Amino acid sequence: MARARLNSGNAAEAELPKAKINQQSLQNVSKLLTYLKPYRLKFAGALFFLILSSLTGLAFPKLLGGIIDAAKGDINGGILPANLNSIGLIAFAILFIQAIVSFFRVTWFVQIAENSIADIRRDTYFKLITLPMNFFSNRRVGELNSRISADLSQIQDTLTTTFAEMLRQIILMIGGTIMMAIVSGKLALILLLILPIIVPIAVFFGRFIRTLSKEAQDQLAESNTIVEETLQGIASVKAFVNEAFEAGRYDKSIRRVANIAIKGAKFRGLFASFVVFCLFGVVVGVIWYGAHLVSLKQLKVGELTEFVMFAILVSASLGSLPEQYANIQKAVGASERVIEILNENCEVVSIRETENEVKQKIEGNLEFKNVRFHYPSRPEIEVLKDVSFLANAGQKVAIVGPSGSGKSTMAALILQFYHPQSGELFFDGKAASSFSLTDIRNQVAVVPQDVMLFGGTIRENIAYGKLKATEEEILQAAQRANAHNFISTFPEGYDTVVGERGVKLSGGQRQRIAIARALLKNPTILILDEATSSLDSESERLVQEALEVLMKNRTSIIIAHRLSTIREADKIIVLEKGTIIESGSHDDLLKNETGLYRYLSGLQFEI
Ligand SMILES: Nc1ncnc2c1ncn2[C@@H]1O[C@H](COP(=O)(O)OP(=O)(O)OP(=O)(O)O)[C@@H](O)[C@H]1O
Ligand SMILES: [Mg+2]
Repeated sequence: MARARLNSGNAAEAELPKAKINQQSLQNVSKLLTYLKPYRLKFAGALFFLILSSLTGLAFPKLLGGIIDAAKGDINGGILPANLNSIGLIAFAILFIQAIVSFFRVTWFVQIAENSIADIRRDTYFKLITLPMNFFSNRRVGELNSRISADLSQIQDTLTTTFAEMLRQIILMIGGTIMMAIVSGKLALILLLILPIIVPIAVFFGRFIRTLSKEAQDQLAESNTIVEETLQGIASVKAFVNEAFEAGRYDKSIRRVANIAIKGAKFRGLFASFVVFCLFGVVVGVIWYGAHLVSLKQLKVGELTEFVMFAILVSASLGSLPEQYANIQKAVGASERVIEILNENCEVVSIRETENEVKQKIEGNLEFKNVRFHYPSRPEIEVLKDVSFLANAGQKVAIVGPSGSGKSTMAALILQFYHPQSGELFFDGKAASSFSLTDIRNQVAVVPQDVMLFGGTIRENIAYGKLKATEEEILQAAQRANAHNFISTFPEGYDTVVGERGVKLSGGQRQRIAIARALLKNPTILILDEATSSLDSESERLVQEALEVLMKNRTSIIIAHRLSTIREADKIIVLEKGTIIESGSHDDLLKNETGLYRYLSGLQFEI
């Protein structure tokens, strides 16, 4: 339940890596494009309006040229009337069409993108939280978080603006070139000879600069990790008075970012000078040669104006393409990472809250049979070695043993967070695999070693054990868990917000809320993982009482360091380095003079 609330907000702004666009990546993108399907009619409409608005955009240079020529009494190109007023009216009519079309183009694209992105976010999030535990041990929360925030934002930007903009620029570029050729073949030819030389140089230059800025981004991401880790462990930073150390570490990292960025800026400046000189140089050259043609009466003034405007339009479109292409590459990279999550195999859990009912009841008999287990992320260390034991329905079975011996791991196996590599778990004599995951988890409850509460109110946190619990049930659970008293001393009572991860409550209070939560869930099998480890004697008594209530009428697996709490257990299992070395009742185990249990008891009770 580790839920990092740290928002890696800056991840959304950080530059995302780009991906090569190839067949595989396009396949990935097309998988995400299926999310557009429900909106395909609107999408087609938006596309139509986009094309329409681009085409009407092409009319303006033409109209301007026409107006200038008409003012001089010339006829421009033969398409437009020579009457000033008629041209003016046409211009306004086109403007009007543009206005309407632009409205729909912009709003529809945004509507489509927002809705489909919301769909993708919902699916990715659900997929993410239904992935097996192992997935999470290999990844950082920040990284996963940024897939839902930054990656999907990139895709969203691409869907809302980049895609439309790119299409518009391509239409303007092709249309503009055709119009130029119509106005003056000679001029157009010259331009078309120069542009293919300048543009590749510009693109190459641009690419080099982007490699530099990517380096800066990677460095920035690294410094963001420092912030994230420091904030997550802020208590340790303060306790060790390492604020200055952390600030220094961050400063060093952030200086590196600045240095790389400054180096990049030099090239960026050079690039800007190059673009200004070459592109404007071309415009000046065209006007120069065009004026020459005008003086030879081969071209009208209006036509030259028109041509220059088209030339600017085409160069601007051409110049903006690499940037948009880069954006699309980033979106492709982002969709690959999102698809990667969507393609993972998730655990089978109920999709709807309403389906969350127990179908196959468990009586409470639990058996480990020759269980061998290592964490998938650490195959070289075998945590459980041939563990077998039986807990009959209603029994209290205690697991004791040194730290790291594998006790919490056994709890994780019962919850089906992981599966043994060999051997098996049985519920009521039936293999665990014959039950659905939902059924097992719905009938097993854990009061964990370190209780994680969610940021909401105390009521919400208790109700997490049974979402549809009534007010009465919540109150009752809190009372039975010895939590009601301390909750009532808070001014806001059950509406008290517990703070991020429950930091506003003491360890014992958090534990009693976790017990209330477990009581509400009313499980058949209960796992208490060191539930009283962090308490003073008075709180321990309160929690212990609450636990006694909780353990009644169910199978309880009690993981404990303090042997005082488990004397009454029906069976005590002594685990050492993943092997059960002793088991039996308290009295049985004490009889073993050389046993670990007797030794530990000796330390704790001084018998
Ligand atoms: N998610 C994990 N991935 C890899 N190894 C793990 C993981 N969790 C625990 N381990 C390793 O498994 C071993 C057993 O850990 P476990 O948490 O079960 O011990 P424990 O008996 O509960 O100890 P403690 O009494 O300190 O709580 C340890 O060596 C630990 O390092
Ligand atoms: Mg443990």
